[in-house]
Amino acid sequence: MSITSCTNCASVDNSWYSWYNGVMNALDVRSEFPMLEPGSERRIGTDDAKLVYLDSAATALKPKCVIAQELDFYSHNTGSAGRGAHTLTNEAGEAIERARRKLVDFALSSDVADVEKEKWTAVFTSGATMGLNMLSLMFLLGSLNSDENKTSRFQLDDKCNIILSRAEHHSNIVPWQQVSKITGAQIRYLDLLNSGELDLEQLNKLVDENTKVLSISHASNVTGVVHEVDKITAHLDKFTAGSSRPIVILDACQSAPHIPLELDIRGVDFAVVSAHKVYGPSGVGAVLGQKDAFLDAPVVMSGGGMVEQVDDFTTTFQALPNKYEPGSFATAQILAFAAALDFVSKIGFADIRTHEKNLTSKLLEVRNISSVRILGDGVLLDNRLGLVAFELAGVHPHDLGNYLDELGIAVRVGHHCAQLVHRRFGVQSSTRASLGIYNTTDDVDALISGIESAKRFFGV
Ligand code: ALA
Repeated sequence: MSITSCTNCASVDNSWYSWYNGVMNALDVRSEFPMLEPGSERRIGTDDAKLVYLDSAATALKPKCVIAQELDFYSHNTGSAGRGAHTLTNEAGEAIERARRKLVDFALSSDVADVEKEKWTAVFTSGATMGLNMLSLMFLLGSLNSDENKTSRFQLDDKCNIILSRAEHHSNIVPWQQVSKITGAQIRYLDLLNSGELDLEQLNKLVDENTKVLSISHASNVTGVVHEVDKITAHLDKFTAGSSRPIVILDACQSAPHIPLELDIRGVDFAVVSAHKVYGPSGVGAVLGQKDAFLDAPVVMSGGGMVEQVDDFTTTFQALPNKYEPGSFATAQILAFAAALDFVSKIGFADIRTHEKNLTSKLLEVRNISSVRILGDGVLLDNRLGLVAFELAGVHPHDLGNYLDELGIAVRVGHHCAQLVHRRFGVQSSTRASLGIYNTTDDVDALISGIESAKRFFGV
């Protein structure tokens, strides 16, 4: 694998790359994360225990290069990207465009032809939730602008339907409910099988000529199942084509840190990602999309930076992607996002996947603890990410989470912003352990013995 240095900001010290010798070693990786760095790691819990971080699906820890990149921008390179003509503003603008290209590269297949790559772009947003809101509002506005947009794909009425799955995060449900309320479009759900997989046989019943949107997660943040997106989009292609094809949106938040997105071969129009789950900073994400898919997409957020000419009552907009990026850029965060993508790309998904699959197979041993039930425990290792959400009969997830926290183990408890999945499995909430590239078998052993200890403590 070739090692490229961080090119966003020439003044950032790239010596941190030297730890990497071409083979991923989780202990070396840990040293790159200040929260885990041996000797100075964060300690939590009653005995000031070394942090066992098993909550990467909520937010990943940050490597030094990401932190250094933000610090560098604020310390030496602050400038408002795309505003004015001085050196700092020009450099910031150029760095944003490099970050944009890096993100598009990251999201497409490694061997994609340049001509195919050119078909894609990325619009920076404040996160994936904002991205999904932006996309759903495009449909809302597209529906209201019916005179202007008779042939727009972004047009819904009460004859149309929107397909989601019950595996979705609330951010891929609630915005569509808002759109449905106003346009009358019907929401239809793909259900989950006991295994946690989506019931693709339902597609025959759900998809019809009035399906205008299919918005689905690449992987569930509760079951960890990687959804068969290719099969779903192939099914759509059987029924629809060209301008009548529903717009397909992929919520790639959970998958992006763990598996290649390869959007170019998934049959999707748009995808959303959040930097903070890919070892990057919070407050930034993107809508990735095929340029053609943006063609009729209404501008739903407006302001400075995205305009060409503003007159008293009308405005002309800049070209894609700036047209959809009003306001000042979160430049420090966008550059740090690019540094995070460098970090992940340098290790490479082959090594990341091997490491995380090994750990996941160990993590799944929680199923052997009596009284534990994993939500969606029927999927082969190849088709799931490194996370398990489970119930421990007789112990409320919050009590278990607090108990584990006292031992230094950070897991997420609650409904994980996915109440429909929990309802499907007959529970209100669960305890979720999720892995990142820095986890080791010691972390998983600590979780398993922590659950055993909690069972004794709570007498179940
Ligand atoms: N969506 C994030 C999670 O699953 C916040 O925890």
